[in-house]
Amino acid sequence: MMLVLRSAFCSLLLLFVSNSVVSGQTLPPAKLDGFVYGKHRVDFDSILIEAFFDPVCPDSRDAWPALKQALSYYGHRVYLVVHLLPLPYHDNAFAASRALHIVNNQNTSATFPLLEAFFKRQTQFYNAQTHKLSRAAVVNEIVEFASKAVGESYHVTLESGFNDRKTDLKTRVSFKYSTSRGVYATPTFFVNGFQLPDAGSPLDFNGWKKLIDPLIGKKSHKNEENFHYF
Ligand SMILES: *[C@@H]1O[C@H](CO)[C@@H](O)[C@H](O)[C@H]1NC(C)=O
Repeated sequence: MMLVLRSAFCSLLLLFVSNSVVSGQTLPPAKLDGFVYGKHRVDFDSILIEAFFDPVCPDSRDAWPALKQALSYYGHRVYLVVHLLPLPYHDNAFAASRALHIVNNQNTSATFPLLEAFFKRQTQFYNAQTHKLSRAAVVNEIVEFASKAVGESYHVTLESGFNDRKTDLKTRVSFKYSTSRGVYATPTFFVNGFQLPDAGSPLDFNGWKKLIDPLIGKKSHKNEENFHYF
């Protein structure tokens, strides 16, 4: 009995060990997860918005125009990091997210154009539209779609990227990162590290203004105070 138990325990241990060796997936990752929007540098003096998106989620799509407008309105005072959360009940979310990682790896400037292309034509990758297609066929479609969206020069990268385990692991890290932050719906937003209520619903431009304006007000107030002290 003891022996049986011990051997069961060992094989479980072995399973864990071999699993971590085979996947090569070590956490934490070498680089923080997320795509920084535009040319903004990571900056503790700016307000950080984190958006958790699924490229084939209609609510993420609907949230993007207002957020983009807010980012353009606030300029350097606000910056955005997008984290991907490929939802398991969206059949093609992981492959679409993987395409974003592949393209980002070749040229970070192409990431948001591709995300916007997915938002614009995401119905093509909904469950109902693809349920008769094989996984390979969907990946093929995504490769064609993405190279059309960001340029034929990405075609080879996308093809080889989908056969490169590293890009799979990167996409898994995104998933793990998002879930480790407690995010289970898209879009979900965090501002300066704190989650906004109403996860899963888009926020309009006025919603963003109501949120961000007071924060900027507090900041300039603090600066004035500092000014008085000095
Ligand atoms: C990355 O993409 C941008 C926008 O398309 C382009 O201007 C730039 O030259 C590209 N950079 C590289 C290294 O390919």
